[in-house]
Amino acid sequence: MTATLRALQGDITTLRVDAIVNAANASLLGGGGVDGAIHRAAGPELLNECRGLGGCPTGEAKLTQGYRLPARFVIHTVGPVWHGGTHGEAALLASCYRRALDVAAANGAGTVAFPGISTGVYGYPKDEAARIAVASVRAGVAALPTITDVIFCCFSAGDLALYEALLGAPAA
Ligand code: AR6
Repeated sequence: MTATLRALQGDITTLRVDAIVNAANASLLGGGGVDGAIHRAAGPELLNECRGLGGCPTGEAKLTQGYRLPARFVIHTVGPVWHGGTHGEAALLASCYRRALDVAAANGAGTVAFPGISTGVYGYPKDEAARIAVASVRAGVAALPTITDVIFCCFSAGDLALYEALLGAPAA
């Protein structure tokens, strides 16, 4: 059985899944965008746990509890900053999705929601990032049979349209 992949538009902090993924920075000590929203919704215990993790390299992922979030876990990953595409950005972005799924599977999380990693402050072109996200998740779930559901949580209608085109979902 392969996992179900779907896209929805919404705020990732509201999703009742086993794990939501955070688009963090290497310090893992919080920031703006989705990172700020996750820390606000989870409460100060999240930052407290993050302080003990010693940061995270780009393309890697680390797990914490979800605290006040409906999600049980937060998987923090660090996307690449877009520098034009010739600095290994694509491989690093694919690695974020794959390593986050590896960490989810290793911790018994079967349902996982992703934001558009690197597509905000870090400047990754959204269409290219969505293509990499879907390809990396498809490959990841094929190798990780305990992952049953992956949600691409889009903040905007434009982002949702990109994912629906890639996933083959009917346009609204
Ligand atoms: N739910 C879902 N998606 C969201 C939400 C939300 N609540 N809020 C924003 N997005 P960004 P990055 C989308 O900038 O580019 C932070 O300061 C947003 O529309 O959050 O990886 C970190 O600490 C965009 O598509 O992350 C790092 O320093 C996507 O989330 C840095 O930003 C990612 O945008 C990471 O930059």
